Amino acid sequence: MDILVTGGAGYIGSHTVIELVAAGFNPVVADNLSNSKVESLRRVAELCGREITFYQADIRDKTKFADIFSKHDFAAVIHFAGLKAVGESCEQPLNYYQTNVAGTMSLLELMAEKRVHNFIFSSSATVYGDPDGVPIPESAETRTTNPYGASKLMVENICRDLCRAPENPFKISLLRYFNPIGAHPSGRIGEDPNGIPNNLLPYISQVAVGKLPRLQVFGNDYPTVDGTGVRDYIHVLDLAKGHVAALQYLLKKEADCYTFNLGTGQGYSVLEVVKAFEQASGKAVPYDVVPRRAGDIAACYADANLAKQELAWQAEHPIERMVSDAWRWQSSNPNGYE
Ligand code: NAD
Ligand code: WQD
Repeated sequence: MDILVTGGAGYIGSHTVIELVAAGFNPVVADNLSNSKVESLRRVAELCGREITFYQADIRDKTKFADIFSKHDFAAVIHFAGLKAVGESCEQPLNYYQTNVAGTMSLLELMAEKRVHNFIFSSSATVYGDPDGVPIPESAETRTTNPYGASKLMVENICRDLCRAPENPFKISLLRYFNPIGAHPSGRIGEDPNGIPNNLLPYISQVAVGKLPRLQVFGNDYPTVDGTGVRDYIHVLDLAKGHVAALQYLLKKEADCYTFNLGTGQGYSVLEVVKAFEQASGKAVPYDVVPRRAGDIAACYADANLAKQELAWQAEHPIERMVSDAWRWQSSNPNGYE
C-alpha cells in the first residue's frame, strides 16, 4: 500500500518511514529538503534494506504534487512537511502561513480531486497555549500565542470543516505531538538542526559533544519540581509508531476527524533532563540559569489515555533511552548528516 509521506526526509518523517516499512507499507517521500538532507533517506534505505522512492518537491507546488499523485495509488497521506521554528514564525509570518496553511490546503485540494481521503496531520501541543492544567486532555481549550501555533490550529480547523462536508468522505487524524527527542538506536539517523538549536535536547547534545560551551537554562522560578520548565518528552521512535497506529486506525474507521495527543503522559524538568543526559553520556553539561524565555510556559504534559484506548498505542521508551539514543546519534555524527 503506497503512503505519501510529505517532509519524510526530516527528523520525525525519516523515523516514521522506517516504521511504515516495518509494518508492511510502501512509503513514498516528497520533501523540498529546505530543512533536511537526502542523506537521511539514504541511511533510512540502508536501515530498511530497500530503496525509498523520493521526490524533491515543494508542498506549495500543486502541479508537481499532481504529477506525483498520478504516478501512485496512495492509500493515505502523512503530512509532516512544514516550518516549525516558533521564533522564526514571528519574524516571517507570511512564510509560515504560506507553507503550513496554504501548502496544506493545496495538498488537501489535490487529495479531494484524486479521491485520496486518508490524511494524518502533524499538529502540536502548542495548540494548547498556556494550558489551564496538566495533564492536558484533547478536549482542553485551544489557544495560540505565535504564528507557528496559529498555523497548526488553522489547519486543524480546516480539517474539521472538511470532515463536516459530506461531498468528500475524508478520514483525518490530527496528531498533537508533545516534545519529540531521541534518535534511531542505530545512531544512523536523528535530529539535525540548522545553526544553533532552539530546542533543549539538540542544545544539550551539542554542549556535551563540545560544539557549544554551556547550556542556558531558561528560568528556575516556575512553580515546578525544581523551578525549571517541565515538558512531556517522547522518543521519536514511539512517535513514529504512533503514526502507524493512527494509519491502521483510519483505514478501519468511518469518515471523520480524530484528534490524539501523542505524548508519554509524564513530565520532566530541564534539570532532570540534563541529569539523565549526563548519566547516559558520561559527559558534563555545564549550565547557567538565565531569565525565562519569552512565551515559555511552566509545565506541559499530555493526558495520553485517548491514544492508548483508541489506537492501542502508548509510548514505551523511558527518558534514559531517549537521552542515550540522542547521545549515540550526536556523538557518532557530530556534524549531523554533513
Ligand atoms: P523537520 O524540519 O525535520 O521536517 C520537516 C520536513 O519538511 C523537512 O525535511 C523539510 O525539508 C520539509 N519541508 C519544509 N518545508 C517544505 C515545503 N514547503 N515543501 C516540502 N517540504 C518541506 O521537522 P520535524 O521535527 O520532523 O517536524 C515534522 C512536523 O511535525 C512539522 O510539521 C512540525 O511542525 C511538526 N511538529 C514537530 C515537533 C517537534 O518538536 N519536532 C513538535 C510538534 C509538531
Ligand atoms: C523545552 C524546555 C525551555 C532550550 C517547542 C515548541 C513547540 C514544539 C516543541 C513544534 C523549556 C527549556 C530550552 C534551552 C532551556 N515544536 N530550554 N534552554 O518550548 O516545549 O516546545 O518545541 O511544534 O511548539 O514551542 O521545547 O525544547 O524549546 O524547550 O532551558 O536552550 O527546555 O525553557 O522549558 P518547547 P524546547
